[in-house]
Amino acid sequence: MLVHFPIVFWTVAVGAYVASAAGLTESIDAIAKFANGAGLTMAMLAMIAGLLELRRIDSRSEAMRVATWHMLVMATVWVCFLVALVLSISPELAGSTARLAVVAFAVLGFLLMAVGGWLGGRLVYEFGIAVKYRV
Ligand code: HEM
Repeated sequence: MLVHFPIVFWTVAVGAYVASAAGLTESIDAIAKFANGAGLTMAMLAMIAGLLELRRIDSRSEAMRVATWHMLVMATVWVCFLVALVLSISPELAGSTARLAVVAFAVLGFLLMAVGGWLGGRLVYEFGIAVKYRV
């Protein structure tokens, strides 16, 4: 249930960072930073829940291989969005290159999140991890 929150917050953040870099409006910048911070916070909770679930998977199974990739990809996503946030809130990095770097890290994080989400979906729908009743 928790995973929906970082996905939504980070999706809003990417859109807002792109809109801000394109110079659409000034206020969208604050939305981008807030959404990114909220995404980072909620992702930490999703990570704790994921790590608890990880303990129940057989360590030699294919499911564990997919879960490990899922974890590594999502950890990379988290770092990408953290870098985007740090770059976007640092006053000394206010130039256009920094703005481009913020968008680059946010877009990279978003694309990797799609890959990580697909791997997470495989865990649930292919391997039945954390599924109580199977048909
Ligand atoms: C240490 C990091 C993480 C670990 C170890 C981990 C582990 C897992 C595991 C074991 C599952 C399958 C069982 C379940 O749904 O609980 C899962 C599913 C999933 N995870 Fe993660 N996760 C991590 C971080 C994240 C983050 C940060 C996100 C979102 C940005 C995320 C998104 C998903 C999604 C979308 C699913 C599929 C849920 C579904 O289809 O119902 N995970 N994860």
